[in-house]
Amino acid sequence: MKKLLLLVGGSAGLGEALYSHYKNLDYDIVEFSRSGQQPEHVFLDMSRKETAIDTIDLQFAQLAKQPWQEIVLIINAAQIGPIGELAMSEPKQWWQNIEVNLTLPISIMGRFQTHFQAVEAPKNIAFVSSGAATSVIEGWSLYSATKAGVEHFIRVVAQEQSSKSNPITPVILNPGIMDTQMQATIRSSSEAQFSNVDWFKQAHETGQLASPATVAGNIAAVLSGKLEAGQVYDVSG
Ligand SMILES: NC(=O)c1ccc[n+]([C@@H]2O[C@H](COP(=O)([O-])OP(=O)(O)OC[C@H]3O[C@@H](n4cnc5c(N)ncnc54)[C@H](OP(=O)(O)O)[C@@H]3O)[C@@H](O)[C@H]2O)c1
Repeated sequence: MKKLLLLVGGSAGLGEALYSHYKNLDYDIVEFSRSGQQPEHVFLDMSRKETAIDTIDLQFAQLAKQPWQEIVLIINAAQIGPIGELAMSEPKQWWQNIEVNLTLPISIMGRFQTHFQAVEAPKNIAFVSSGAATSVIEGWSLYSATKAGVEHFIRVVAQEQSSKSNPITPVILNPGIMDTQMQATIRSSSEAQFSNVDWFKQAHETGQLASPATVAGNIAAVLSGKLEAGQVYDVSG
């Protein structure tokens, strides 16, 4: 039997590094995003919740019928913007952030329970969060609130799963700061949008951003060990 990785947001940055890492570990991988180029890519636009959940249902239902040695769901996809006080952007932009960062991660985890709960193989869910879930960062209200929301959802699911006979183990990962497109987007903010933008420019110039490959390796190491449901794991580089 093989091990299965369901990777949400595996087309770029940390997700692309996770794809490569787990490929080398010989996992069967299904990668969900808008622009993935891997053979196992499935198109998923998390800002379109109705069609996105149909895609997830179709894939999960088929995969749950197959025998697996282990099943891992990593929810890595997210968007940082719109950055700035809400008066600087429009409701449609706010709602896109909330759908991608909160509604779909929760919905995907919900459907994972529906389709895989009865499967006897060990089942882990890892949510890639951010220090922003617990820090107050001016200009990042939506990103921070959505990350915090999913973190608390996971703590409740962890408690619910503790009484199940085939429990799912959900955990939270804090990846630190990494050299990806998301950081480039942060650096391109104006001072008016994001008062702390210079700190991020400095961090980039002084080589403080970790490589996504290093963080992917840390994630795989943490997930292969004994996990405590609902806990936050530091996987920074
Ligand atoms: N970079 C950092 O310093 C940092 C720090 C703390 C936490 N994080 C967290 O780490 C994770 C990875 O971040 P990253 O820096 O690697 O970001 P990234 O380079 O911007 O990559 C984001 C990933 O999310 C996917 N995604 C975005 N919008 C999507 C949508 N509407 N539908 C489906 N997939 C979507 C992208 O795929 P497509 O564009 O192909 O759809 C891509 O695979 C995120 O959860 C982020 O919040 C990052």
